[in-house]
Amino acid sequence: MIISPSGTKKFGILTAGGDCPGLNAAIRGVCRAAYNRYNMKALGFAYGFRGLVEGRARVLNPEDFSGILTQGGTILGAGREKPFRAASAKMDIRRPDSEIESDKVAAIKENYARLGLDCLVILGGNGTHTTGYLLAQEGLNVLGLPKTIDNDIVGTDRAFGFSSALAIATEAIDRLHSTAQSHSRVMVIELMGHKAGWLALYAGVAGGGDVILIPEIPYDIKAIGRHLEERAGSGKSFSIVVVAEGALSIEEKKMDKKERKKYRALIPSSAYRVAREIEAETGMETRATILGYVQRGGIPSASDRVLATRLGAAAAGLLARGEYGRMVTLSGSEISSVDLSVPANKVKNVPLDHQMIDTAVCVGTCMGI
Ligand code: F6P
Repeated sequence: MIISPSGTKKFGILTAGGDCPGLNAAIRGVCRAAYNRYNMKALGFAYGFRGLVEGRARVLNPEDFSGILTQGGTILGAGREKPFRAASAKMDIRRPDSEIESDKVAAIKENYARLGLDCLVILGGNGTHTTGYLLAQEGLNVLGLPKTIDNDIVGTDRAFGFSSALAIATEAIDRLHSTAQSHSRVMVIELMGHKAGWLALYAGVAGGGDVILIPEIPYDIKAIGRHLEERAGSGKSFSIVVVAEGALSIEEKKMDKKERKKYRALIPSSAYRVAREIEAETGMETRATILGYVQRGGIPSASDRVLATRLGAAAAGLLARGEYGRMVTLSGSEISSVDLSVPANKVKNVPLDHQMIDTAVCVGTCMGI
């Protein structure tokens, strides 16, 4: 039932950055609500901003956004193209980067106008919303939906993708428990989270990790060693150490970028680095697991499906009212929205006084210090 004339008649939609479970549920949420309630037309761009630069768009008909609620990945394809970032010299060595960039932005503006779009709906994380904000500064109408398994977008309490990744990571930790116990080993598991440790913190608590290491708290290997030895001394023959991929030691924190890069080139993965340090510190037999892209694959959790659908339907409402330049958000239990400048150019880190850190410590988990 069409209940109101629409401020937006035609919009483009794309999924940018790394993919995550819930993208298709969100595409469905936006497009169904926009089509059913407001009679809008949707154009889907392929592979994120790359499709927008290249003008690779297709009309999305109801059959395109039907039957995709439970599917992982994205029917549009994802991509890490950042049209405002200095392009790689490899792309065209004859021209300065700034020229390549402005070519891309000009191409986007041209395609937006040529295709007759009233708004561009972008589904992505921090980088995507930074690009969205800059495109809005260039005069485009833009709306954002927050997705990422890292849950590190400023302005929303939660991004979709996080809940699914949390369930996958928790199951992996559960499965490591039994083999850790059988062999009386220390098991180190690395979860995604380059800059922010939300996933490691939550999965670590959900899976009963004995040590949780996140980028926000540089760790002291001696403190970890003491904790593991105390556990062993109290009869616990095994331990689980949950490490965010961006976790770093106190010593590493003191290094400058160049030094750290050199140090990390020896062992690029944080799980293997920490495992080696634990063995050297305690002599305990230690194994490392990197969960990797499994965390971003497969069907979305029920909670992500609900969140993505709610955010999508709310975005369609903003489209209808012509309220552009915003990112739809979850605030408490309510769906709301913030100006695109709020998430742009920022990362939502775990605050050191976050309740969850205290909760972890209360139940006996070592946070690396
Ligand atoms: O942004 C989500 C994320 O999963 C990060 O945690 C991770 O560092 C990154 O993507 C890696 O993704 P890709 O290899 O696709 O660039």
